[in-house]
Amino acid sequence: MKRLLPLLVLAGCSGAQTPLDPWGVQAERIATLTHVLFWGGTAVFLITMGFLALAILAPARLREAMGSRRFVIGGGIVFPVTVLTALLAYSLGISRALTQPMSDAPLRIEIIGRQYWWEIRYPDLGKGAVTANALHLPLGREVELHLTSADVIHSVWVPNLHGKLDMIPGRVNRQRLRADRLGELRGQCTEFCGAQHTLMAFDVVVQEPGEFEAWIARQRAPVPEPRTEEHRRGRQVFGEAGCGACHAVRGTPWSARIAPDLSRIGSRATLAGGALPNNRGNLAGWIAAPQDIKPGNAMPAYARALEGPDLLALASWLDSLR
Ligand code: CUA
Repeated sequence: MKRLLPLLVLAGCSGAQTPLDPWGVQAERIATLTHVLFWGGTAVFLITMGFLALAILAPARLREAMGSRRFVIGGGIVFPVTVLTALLAYSLGISRALTQPMSDAPLRIEIIGRQYWWEIRYPDLGKGAVTANALHLPLGREVELHLTSADVIHSVWVPNLHGKLDMIPGRVNRQRLRADRLGELRGQCTEFCGAQHTLMAFDVVVQEPGEFEAWIARQRAPVPEPRTEEHRRGRQVFGEAGCGACHAVRGTPWSARIAPDLSRIGSRATLAGGALPNNRGNLAGWIAAPQDIKPGNAMPAYARALEGPDLLALASWLDSLR
């Protein structure tokens, strides 16, 4: 336990999902606020405990002095009012700073919360610039998230980048942020939205601007024609099984928006809102029995509807869409 304690304390200080390892200016402000409030509170606690110890242990004459009117007013009213007012003013100042824009033309990104996944659109970058469950951000560029919901209230939180903000049906909440470090982070729904609220996560990928542009271009382009017999069969199964009634794949007749856009699903790190690592096996398993993995989500099970080879061909074709 002696060795475990410092480990536990430090465990929250770095990683892909922590407010204490800021990757952007807003998260830095929030982390500073956290530290100031934590250490401010610690100082007040220690001072109070010190006086309490004195009141119990000190010699009678000192104890008498501590009972004087001046001491009681000073230590019991003036000190806490001053300290708490200062901390309040400081935190209000930070809240204000968090909503200040950094540039005139941030990149607009629409994120629509759905039970239990995220629809992500880049309306400034063309019609087909759409993805799901993987928020790509250009390094160092301010973006404005336009957050809403298609069903119930969700809340978006990428703790390394900014604070939480609710996604409310019929309303658009905006949040500006800028990612200043390259790499991958994890975002999570933080408003209870149903049975699979915990498995409503998404990946965040911060890329060099050039790489980001190339990624956008790939999202917009129609998917390539299947090159192998298996992939051709997979694509055929996709149509026969009715996947296109809910999912879209660019460059095909399927363009529904009910379920995640699958145009480049093979390039995503995770499946089903962060529920599984993305690979062909998990993809096949998810299509066969999604209700065993994430009970209550909207995807029907295909274990009975599809023959083994057809299921594998479908997973193989989807995996090839990168
Ligand atoms: Cu969506 Cu919790």
